[in-house]
Amino acid sequence: MSLKKLTSMSLEFSYSADLKKSEFKILDQTLLPFEEKWLIVESLPQMVEIIQSLRVRGAPLIGVSASLMLAKLAIENKSQAELQKAATELYESRPTAVNLMVCIDRMRAVLNSKFSLENVVNEAVAIFDEDVQLCDRMATNGAALFVDGDQILTHCNTGGLATAGVGTALGVIAKAHAQGKKIHVYVDETRPLLQGGRLTTWELQKLKIPYTLITDNMAAQLMSLKKITKAIVGSDRIAANGDFANKIGTYSVAVNCFYHQIPFYVAAPYTTVDPTCASGELIPIEQRKPSEVLGVQGHFGSVQWAPLDSKVYNPSFDVTPAKLVAVWILDRGVYTQKDVDAGVFLK
Ligand code: MRU
Repeated sequence: MSLKKLTSMSLEFSYSADLKKSEFKILDQTLLPFEEKWLIVESLPQMVEIIQSLRVRGAPLIGVSASLMLAKLAIENKSQAELQKAATELYESRPTAVNLMVCIDRMRAVLNSKFSLENVVNEAVAIFDEDVQLCDRMATNGAALFVDGDQILTHCNTGGLATAGVGTALGVIAKAHAQGKKIHVYVDETRPLLQGGRLTTWELQKLKIPYTLITDNMAAQLMSLKKITKAIVGSDRIAANGDFANKIGTYSVAVNCFYHQIPFYVAAPYTTVDPTCASGELIPIEQRKPSEVLGVQGHFGSVQWAPLDSKVYNPSFDVTPAKLVAVWILDRGVYTQKDVDAGVFLK
C-alpha cells in the first residue's frame, strides 16, 4: 500500500493511501539545538502535553499539528463524538495563538457537517499545505523591504520550526538572504524559554545566514550604536485594529525601535488575524509556570538560581500597539497603518 507523507522541519506525518495506518512524528524542540529527538505521537493526552510543554510551538505550527492529530485519531477509527471532544481539548491547549482556533474551527466544520474519514484527513492535509504556501507568499512580500547592509533584529523563533513552511519573520529574512542581499541578523535570546538562543540560531546556522546572538536587554544599546537598521517579528494574534500579541519582550523591541526611529515589521499569515478581536487588550495572554523564570531547563537538565518560593510573573506573550508598527507583512500583501485604519483586518 502506497504511503503519503507530509514533512516540515519539525513534523512528519505519513499515512497509507487506504487511510488504515498513519504515523505522526514531532521533533522535540525543547531539546534543540543539542539533541534532535523525534517523538512518535501516540495519544491525544501526549499531543496536548507536546503543545503545552512547547515541544511543538509557534502559532501556525500549533494549529497544523493539532489538525494532523485529529486526522490521526480519525484514521484510528475514533467516532465523530470522540473527534469532536478531541477537537475541544486541542482548541483549549494554549490560549493566545489564534491560528490554533482557526485550524480547529476548520476541522470542526468538517467534523460537524461533512464527517467522513477521508474529509477529515483531507482537511488536515489542506491546512498543512496551505501553511507552506502562506509562508512562501509572506517571504516574497516581506523580502522586498530589505536591502544590502541591513542589520536585522528578530525576537523568538519564527522559522521552519514554528510553521509548516519556511516561517513568518524568519522566512522573510531567509528569502532576503536567498535573493543575495547582504544582511546580518541580531538574534534576541528570548527569555525565559530561549526560543531565539536555542532555535533561531540553529535555523540560521542551517541556512548559513550570518547572525549574532544577544541577550534581550542588549538590543537598545545596539540600536543606540546604530547597529540595527530594521526589526522583524512574528505574531500569535493580530487584532482588527493592528495591535498584536507576540512572545514576551516583543513590546520592548517595538518601543526601542520607535525611540531610535528604526522600522519595526510584523510578519504573519491571515490565520493569525482575529477580526473578532477589536484591540490588543482583548487578546488572552497565556501565563506560564514560575519554574521557567526561577531558572532554566534544557537538554542539560534544570538549573535554578532564584529562591524557589520567589513570587514570579511569567506571561508568555505581550501586546504591541499598532502605532509602533511600520508595516504588517501578510501573505496577501504588505499593509500600512492607513490600510489597518481602513479595516483591512476586519475581513
Ligand atoms: O511560545 P511560543 O514559542 O509558541 O511562541 C512563539 C512566538 O511567539 C512566535 O513569535 C509566534 O508564534 C509567531 S511566528 C510563528
